Amino acid sequence: MALLMVHHPLVQDTVTLIFTITMAPGTMVLTITMALGTVALTITMPEPIRVLVTGAAGQIAYSLLYSIGNGSVFGKDQPIILVLLDITPMMGVLDGVLMELQDCALPLLKDIIATDKEEVAFKDLDVAVLVGSMPRREGMERKDLLKANVIVVGNPANTNCLTASKSAPSIPKENFSCLTRLDHNRAKSQIALKLGVTADDVKNVIIWGNHSSTQYPDVNHAKVKLQGKEVGVYEALKDDSWLKGEFITTVQQRGAAVIKARKLSSAMSAAKAISDHIRDIWFGTPEGEFVSMGVISDGNSYGVPDDLLYSFPVVIKNKSWKFVEGLPINDFSREKMDLTAKELAEEKETAFEFLSSA
Ligand code: LMR
Repeated sequence: MALLMVHHPLVQDTVTLIFTITMAPGTMVLTITMALGTVALTITMPEPIRVLVTGAAGQIAYSLLYSIGNGSVFGKDQPIILVLLDITPMMGVLDGVLMELQDCALPLLKDIIATDKEEVAFKDLDVAVLVGSMPRREGMERKDLLKANVIVVGNPANTNCLTASKSAPSIPKENFSCLTRLDHNRAKSQIALKLGVTADDVKNVIIWGNHSSTQYPDVNHAKVKLQGKEVGVYEALKDDSWLKGEFITTVQQRGAAVIKARKLSSAMSAAKAISDHIRDIWFGTPEGEFVSMGVISDGNSYGVPDDLLYSFPVVIKNKSWKFVEGLPINDFSREKMDLTAKELAEEKETAFEFLSSA
């Protein structure tokens, strides 16, 4: 309890305010007692959530951690305990990242734990963002990393995610998802650039399948806002040969193009896509919009075999995703969706063979 005597120059008397602050977990009740009566204010402060980022000393995390810490991902009133995991040789670099995070003086960051120990990192987590992996170099396909990455969910993202899910059977399969939002954002941007609008004006693109060069960026159901009116992307562009050709290969090959240009794999755009992906899980997808996410294929209505970690259009509500149902699939799309499913089945076989021989 606190007692505060306030003397206001316009009020002849001294006013006595009595503050009582009661703290229950996640709430603060502030009771103010004055001569005139009592006012009770309840201020809700969410409990901190514990968020793990693996590969925390790496390039993607360098952009991602700031977005998480400044409230762009989980909201501006959500306190966070950040857990940073990386391999032992990266601990020196991780120390630098830790210092920088401290120096950012981010009010939402309640604690930062930097470690190279999985048993410390994977404890009481609300969210685990498994970024850590060995980035591919120029000329490699993402699946070439399979053997180096079986314990993390970097690339090949879909198959690593499936492996992680199988390795942690106590966590529901639906709680695992892999990032195809980067491809989704790339598809939106390519359409926006072609039409001279912003990426925000384009919605409901779909990435089907694998985060690899067989992925199928599909804009058959996508809409674009032109002069205040929503129109189908095919109708707006009137360039079917570009949409069925160069557009698809540009999105499929974008990661490789970034590597060729930067001599490093994408980091800023990957971190932005991770933020978009997590924010949509946390807060849900906007009404009338769907997003692409690699999820377990069990029970889908698009003819994709079960038990693959395949990218689908999904909507999210109350932190649960659902397939977008009933989209008509033409022959062109069917062929591309099957091709990428076939690649995922092959990757799964390689991963499981490797795991059973390890
Ligand atoms: C990307 O798509 O940019 C990342 O997956 C990095 C890569 O290897 O292409």
